[in-house]
Amino acid sequence: MTEYATLLLDGKEIALPIIVGTEGEKAIDIRSLRQETGYITFDPGFGSTGSCRSAITFMNGEKGILRYRGIPIEQLAENSTFVETAFLLITGELPTQEELTRTSVHLNDFSLLHENMRAFYQNYPSKAHPMGILSAMVNAMRSFYPELIDLEEEMNRTYLRLISKIRTMAAMAYRISLGEKVVYPRHDLCYCSNFLNMMFDNVVVPYQIDPDLVKALNVFWILHADHEQNCSTTAVRVVGSGKVNIYATISAGISALWGPLHGGANQAVVNMLQKIHDDGMSIDDCIKRAKDPTDSFRLMGFGHRVYKTYDPRAKIMKKMADIVLAKSQKNDPLLDIAQRLEEVALSDSYFVEKNLYPNVDFYSGIVLRTMGIPTNMFTVMFAIGRLPGWIAQWKEDVADPEMKISRPRQIYMGNTNTDYVPIDQRRYENGQS
Ligand code: CMC
Repeated sequence: MTEYATLLLDGKEIALPIIVGTEGEKAIDIRSLRQETGYITFDPGFGSTGSCRSAITFMNGEKGILRYRGIPIEQLAENSTFVETAFLLITGELPTQEELTRTSVHLNDFSLLHENMRAFYQNYPSKAHPMGILSAMVNAMRSFYPELIDLEEEMNRTYLRLISKIRTMAAMAYRISLGEKVVYPRHDLCYCSNFLNMMFDNVVVPYQIDPDLVKALNVFWILHADHEQNCSTTAVRVVGSGKVNIYATISAGISALWGPLHGGANQAVVNMLQKIHDDGMSIDDCIKRAKDPTDSFRLMGFGHRVYKTYDPRAKIMKKMADIVLAKSQKNDPLLDIAQRLEEVALSDSYFVEKNLYPNVDFYSGIVLRTMGIPTNMFTVMFAIGRLPGWIAQWKEDVADPEMKISRPRQIYMGNTNTDYVPIDQRRYENGQS
């Protein structure tokens, strides 16, 4: 039976239905509010707004829970692979052995790029950020692979085509930026090994694929694969709601991910740690600056809109950092700074009172750095991981009969009705005309 919340407005009582999710979280359905009352709601940043019903990812920020299709992230990180997790997110079920094999065969079949796409790279300035290139390349896929029709089978192939080619594009961008020969994907390698091989294989020093690094990469991508209605996923849903094609939609998601408050945070964390190291800044000074409201400095990799406790992904990532560092036998001074920063911040009343804990990006940069991934590719690595989530959310959105084109309202605060003034009669307060 539907429950209602009662809103008393201008002396009139309005009953608004309450929606309860499968994990008990509650929402007030305000869809009829404006029509019934003339009022809208005001929620910049959408902190109290649910934009859809979704069965993909569950997060509980107070308890530090993250589950894909009901399965805890810890179990997926321990037992699954990125490809299997992508299948789970997109289809809603873990694959059978036959489905997984078929998926891998398709990923192999789609792994090459149209040779003309390589020309794209050659024409970009050498210092161009790979996120800008990736977003443009994914958008361009619509022209190179136009066979998008509404048949489910063809759409499933399109998802796999995207997942397979984004990895080739990313590795190719890196090789070309170094002025090195492009390494093509290999049929005998799995998704993650293939990526590492395309990035680092060399005719002079053949790349040795290390199973521990392959596992670390699988875990990295599993942890990033979805995170419900964050900034880039919302961009995907909003852009997709205009019925634009999936390539343009995913390209919008990549652009949204680029910013330092979202996917760009992993790069920002390493830049911050490097600066602390290079400038010889003390940990106390750093914490002091992060707490100063007049200083724009923030502790990158700390805080989260939803998690008000330790990000469960950060715990797993921290363990991964220890494993890859032990393997590489590198003594990374940035890891040492990260550990000391974390220790001090977690016992500082400012961070404690505001519930600011390390998020996934705090340790992910260390993991990527140790694998040999250059800093400007970190956000690209996040984008490859997030792709299955964007696809799953887009697919859910287009199939949802409740969804409409995204079109929020606003509270207008500008001039009221104002007459047009011809240019020779305009006078401004500073005396200029
Ligand atoms: N360092 C110092 N103070 C902080 C930080 C930080 N990293 N994060 C939040 N605060 C303070 C902020 O100044 C504000 O203080 P006050 O209440 O006095 O104004 C309070 O905590 C609440 O912060 P907010 O910015 O209003 O919170 P939000 O939910 O809008 O922003 C956030 C969340 C992730 C953008 C923010 O915590 C931040 O900028 N963190 C650093 C960037 C970062 O690590 N981003 C990666 C997020 S995880 C990857 C992903 O899922 O995208």
